[in-house]
Amino acid sequence: MIEVKDLQKSFAVKETFFSAFTSLLKKKEKRIRAVNGISFSIHAGEIMGVAGESGCGKTTTAMLLLGLYRPSGGKVLFEGMDISSLKGTELRYFRRKAQLIFQDPYESLNPRFTVYRTIEEPLIVNRLRRKSERREKIMKAMEKAKLMPLEAFCDKYPHELSGGERQRVCIARAIVLEPVLLIADEATSMLDVSIRAGILEIIKELTEEMKMATLYISHDMSLLGSICDKIGIMYAGEIVEIGRSEDIIQSPLHPYTRALIEAVPVPEFRRAKLKLKAIAGEPPDLVNLPRGCSFRLRCERAIKACRTSRPKLFEVKQGHFVACHQVGD
Ligand SMILES: Nc1ncnc2c1ncn2[C@@H]1O[C@H](COP(=O)(O)OP(=O)(O)O)[C@@H](O)[C@H]1O
Ligand SMILES: [Mg+2]
Repeated sequence: MIEVKDLQKSFAVKETFFSAFTSLLKKKEKRIRAVNGISFSIHAGEIMGVAGESGCGKTTTAMLLLGLYRPSGGKVLFEGMDISSLKGTELRYFRRKAQLIFQDPYESLNPRFTVYRTIEEPLIVNRLRRKSERREKIMKAMEKAKLMPLEAFCDKYPHELSGGERQRVCIARAIVLEPVLLIADEATSMLDVSIRAGILEIIKELTEEMKMATLYISHDMSLLGSICDKIGIMYAGEIVEIGRSEDIIQSPLHPYTRALIEAVPVPEFRRAKLKLKAIAGEPPDLVNLPRGCSFRLRCERAIKACRTSRPKLFEVKQGHFVACHQVGD
């Protein structure tokens, strides 16, 4: 299980000479607040989806979970251990057990490696010396990622594969070390709709079968609705709504979640009664976040409270949380 507590990440803004001088005068360094205090947990065998527009902090969240960025605040607990305190064997164990699937399978595959060699690489890096043992693990991973028949794929190079097959190679490579945490960051957004479903199905099956905690990042709500157990909606570095998948899709509460669902082009996902237009306006400046609710400038229903105080997540019904002054008060 993976647990995230009040996680924060900010980046220093690259400044020009002049802006550096003025911020020196104000004694305040400018920082981009990419992730601004988020909390959630993913259990073994569960898929959590994260949705939100480009720039809302999804990839930064993934990097924090994998321990590739050090948090500016809060923590990530992996099997009860704070990952930023891991060293030596514990750190190596975590690196092995936390894996990532990238958005673009072509870019993340070495063009000179065959499928077999690609999937073997993490085993070599992790010093699994016996060739026969490696072979067995590679075969198992290929079978799980539905790269069948095995002989047809082992000696192929990335350019000889279709987009869907390449992504399955990436999946096989990610699962060959039997991870407990799997992160897929927009893993199917480069693929045709027709092959997307197959990849999602594999990820869902493997999550259950291998008891992984999977974080699936996408801006496509219909896709998340079809495979996730729970969904978190991110806006400007914060989680503004989180809950079981069916609650989020069927009874979204935050105006931003509603707008995201409304933006889905699949008819059965449109709820007849919702009249919200696709989201107008731009996300706020992450260096100077507005006072109050960060969505208020784009919200048609903003009230006075939205300008003065930042809404906190509260539980509307069991397991369904929303941060909006319009709901419940
Ligand atoms: N390494 C970095 N240095 C500075 N700013 C960054 C860095 N990574 C991300 N950001 C900024 O943080 C914000 C969130 O980015 P990101 O997590 O990549 O969003 P998403 O994946 O949701 O599109 C963006 O404004 C982005 O420009
Ligand atoms: Mg991203």
